[in-house]
Amino acid sequence: MQPTPRQIIAIKAALFAACLWPLAQLVWLGYVGGLGANPIEYITRHLGTWTLNFLLVTLAVTPLRHLSGWHWLIRLRRMLGLYVFFYALLHFLTYLWLDQFFDWMSIVKDIAKRPFITAGFTAFLLLIPLAATSNAAMLKRLGGRRWAQLHRSAYAIAIIGVIHYWWLVKKDITLPLVYAVLLGVLLGWRAARLARERQRQLRASIYESG
Ligand code: HEM
Repeated sequence: MQPTPRQIIAIKAALFAACLWPLAQLVWLGYVGGLGANPIEYITRHLGTWTLNFLLVTLAVTPLRHLSGWHWLIRLRRMLGLYVFFYALLHFLTYLWLDQFFDWMSIVKDIAKRPFITAGFTAFLLLIPLAATSNAAMLKRLGGRRWAQLHRSAYAIAIIGVIHYWWLVKKDITLPLVYAVLLGVLLGWRAARLARERQRQLRASIYESG
């Protein structure tokens, strides 16, 4: 399946709107008073969950592209990646504003003292250079190789994101475990592909020298 340029524009527009759904949900629930007994916790958790969901979906684009042969999927990756940053920023702002009331001393102490906050903050900091270099101009400036190296940190961010989730749950670790397994599958696929590429390069160099 190879969509025409017009179809790709339509797919991108539909995806853009669909990615706003989690935010629209929050706005609607806020409007009808459906955010539960602890609205701040509900908002923080909803935005955190969606940050992680978008992160895993973004990381799944390359495997899906290779397995399906739908190479045009790559054209959706940048938008998905920017949505990761968008939801992470909203999640972080909810914490800064609604949870901590911009009390900077308390925020610094919280980041230093609570391991799950330290992990979340680290993941957020690591996302900034990826969002800042996501456009074509930065890709050109950095060069494909350096850009790809930098953007590989998305895997580390996902690992730290899952650790952040794992550390904050008190009893039932089912959901963080599900995220950990999904991320493990994505990492496993990536490692297998890298190993195959190395083997091919090695074989090619042996063939050339022999
Ligand atoms: C890439 C960055 C991040 C990801 C992927 C992420 C992900 C998550 C997830 C999945 C949850 C749990 C949602 C649930 O319980 O259903 C969560 C909760 C939370 N996160 Fe993050 N987070 C990130 C960054 C941050 C940052 C920067 C902060 C603050 C400095 C933060 C503070 C919190 C807090 C306070 C909670 C709620 C804890 C609770 O209710 O006990 N997160 N986050």
